[in-house]
Amino acid sequence: MTIFLTGASGLVGSVFAQAATRRGHRVVGVVGSYLGEIAGLAAKRTVDLTDETATSAAVLDAFPEAIVNCAAVSVPEQCEADPVRSQAMNVGLPATLARLAHHVSARLVHISSEQVFDGTRTAPYTPSDRATPINLYARQKQESEHAVHAAAAEFAVTLRVPLLMGDSPGGKRSLHERLLADWAAGKTPRLYTDEFRQPCAADNLAEVMVELCERRDVSGVMHWAGTELLSRHALGVKIRERFKLTARQAPITAVTRAETPDAAKKRQACLALDISPLAGKLKTRPQAVAEQVEGLKVPVPVREWFLDLPKN
Ligand SMILES: NC(=O)c1ccc[n+]([C@@H]2O[C@H](COP(=O)([O-])OP(=O)(O)OC[C@H]3O[C@@H](n4cnc5c(N)ncnc54)[C@H](OP(=O)(O)O)[C@@H]3O)[C@@H](O)[C@H]2O)c1
Repeated sequence: MTIFLTGASGLVGSVFAQAATRRGHRVVGVVGSYLGEIAGLAAKRTVDLTDETATSAAVLDAFPEAIVNCAAVSVPEQCEADPVRSQAMNVGLPATLARLAHHVSARLVHISSEQVFDGTRTAPYTPSDRATPINLYARQKQESEHAVHAAAAEFAVTLRVPLLMGDSPGGKRSLHERLLADWAAGKTPRLYTDEFRQPCAADNLAEVMVELCERRDVSGVMHWAGTELLSRHALGVKIRERFKLTARQAPITAVTRAETPDAAKKRQACLALDISPLAGKLKTRPQAVAEQVEGLKVPVPVREWFLDLPKN
């Protein structure tokens, strides 16, 4: 099938393009500012997705059987810094794509976030639990879910996903890429010991999204994540171990939420997701953290620093 992919240059979109192409689909991918090549695209389009007319023209030109929305302003601080742009990308764009999906009878796979929940409980959130967003990014994601399912109820599936691991096209986006950049620059990242997440690898998520393009019998809001809940600090240590770095080469300062009360107000303490409703329907299996970190690569921007380190 032809799949129209937004965010083809992002962490998730770039691996989705390869996963869908491996399954024999034709992917027309949209990038914004990214100038490099993206593997797996049959065609690459540069479109400003805040421009509704240009977005509609690109979708209608591709006339896809499925639309996959991986474009967003995906960093909460960037949403706060530019609320108009983030509203256009995180709410306006999914609403437009949903109207177009309905118009051309295409499947729509949209991505939301675990952050729609406030994180004040430790039990896993189910897809039907009430969303309780505590920051602008989360409110925009909640609004996007409503807009998508109001416009394309029978065509759309929204996945709420957690902290994502993986190799991004620019090598600067994901957690291990940011940690390695800090260590290469001689910095000591601060990671919470009491903020818990259930991470997932972007390529595992991409496999789920390809399945969902092919499976029109799953619709509504669903959860996907890995199998383990752990603190950001514990995850940082696992990443350090993955690259066989010592605590001296790759220092981490353990912090608690009580030490940074202002930051903690906009950050959720514990985001566990119940993935059983979707996991029961799919062939793709959720992964443990060890499997997720195993595949991580040394990003290009720090490769020289990494190769120059004494081997342990
Ligand atoms: N990463 C995570 O840990 C995480 C966690 C939970 C949920 N999510 C959600 O998962 C989805 C994918 O996230 P991600 O991490 O892959 O995002 P990302 O790496 O930040 O990529 C964002 C993508 O959006 C594109 N984009 C932004 N503004 C654009 C514009 N005006 N016109 C055209 N394209 C534009 C970017 O294109 P250019 O770079 O070419 O400009 C890029 O391809 C998002 O919905 C995000 O909210 C992510």
